[in-house]
Amino acid sequence: MAQILSCLLVAILASQAYCIPAASHDRRQATLPSFVNTYAPIVYLHSTETYFPSDLGAQLANTQPEINYEVVSGAPNPLTLNNLDSLNALGGSSIYLTSLEDTTSDPQPQWLKGVVPDSTGKTDGAVSCSIIVCDYGNGTVDAYYMYFYAYNWGGKVLGLNFDDHVGDWEHTMTRFSNGVPQTIWFSQHASGEAIDYSAVPKYDGGVRPIVYSANGSHANYATSGEHDHTIPGLDLPFGIFLVDYTDQGYLWDPTLSAYYASVSFPSGSTPVFAAYDSTTPVNWLNYVGQWGDEQYPTSYPGQYDIFGEYRYTSGPTGPEDKDLNRGDGTCPSGLENPCVVLEVVLPGEKV
Ligand SMILES: *[C@@H]1O[C@H](CO)[C@@H](O)[C@H](O)[C@H]1NC(C)=O
Ligand SMILES: *[C@@H]1O[C@H](CO)[C@@H](O)[C@H](O)[C@H]1NC(C)=O
Repeated sequence: MAQILSCLLVAILASQAYCIPAASHDRRQATLPSFVNTYAPIVYLHSTETYFPSDLGAQLANTQPEINYEVVSGAPNPLTLNNLDSLNALGGSSIYLTSLEDTTSDPQPQWLKGVVPDSTGKTDGAVSCSIIVCDYGNGTVDAYYMYFYAYNWGGKVLGLNFDDHVGDWEHTMTRFSNGVPQTIWFSQHASGEAIDYSAVPKYDGGVRPIVYSANGSHANYATSGEHDHTIPGLDLPFGIFLVDYTDQGYLWDPTLSAYYASVSFPSGSTPVFAAYDSTTPVNWLNYVGQWGDEQYPTSYPGQYDIFGEYRYTSGPTGPEDKDLNRGDGTCPSGLENPCVVLEVVLPGEKV
């Protein structure tokens, strides 16, 4: 009886809030829904940007897995996008992909700078985006456009840099209903904004929403201009604000060099990723560790902290940690409750 009830419960939960495996619709190989590319964002990088979208594989080639600043032994060599998830058994979330070179040197190692998009908007030779599709099986589909940068430049407060780190995963998510875009989530630092698709400016009078990536921090906004944001967790007594800058600097079309995958949650909470073809690496999506160096100790040259805010902070976790199963809301769980979807955007302001 208990078993029947729990099956029933799983069935009810599954029908309400879980993405289903794309392949379960039919027995053929799942195909990418065409609207995922038709309505994909066009990203504008800032005109003074120096840390561009970056190749996922290059991040592995230029780092080694470390725990507590010590190299993890027994890791595959070389680490590739096909075996990265083997690190989950060797320390998992304690692991930091740590730069082989000193990242604080002047000039910094070139690989941290990423790849400037070419005249078509492509990061040529660098796969710098991961597009992940969650199909709820009831007409609702969430498409995550995950933007990868090898380095995050956190910006300045009173002339001092804060929150610089190796590895930077940012994303927007578009929720579709029967192939029609409804809402877009813009990730911004530890939080973000949900905005009605119809309110977001479109590229070249078409259907593709414009996403502005802020200089250095790569936070995502719907408009160009200055965006005030307090440093998450920073509680300075004299109330200082950090500012994100966006403008139409460099055009980046993330779909031109991206890995595509579907995600489903057959057992409830653990994501299962599947590629749409046999040549796309997908195992890396299971990796639960960090994509950059661990926050340098205070003894590290150039490191400082002011009221607990550090110049150099830790690299981020990857796409699997972005709440890919959002159910009823466009917002990640735990951030906006209820999830407020803005119906207008104001230029250069965080509304
Ligand atoms: C489909 O499922 C999602 C997730 O539970 C839900 O938010 C959405 O309202 C459902 N859509 C329809 C048309 O039932
Ligand atoms: C953009 O970031 C670079 C560092 O990557 C910095 O030198 C430049 O001043 C920043 N631009 C603005 C407008 O803050």
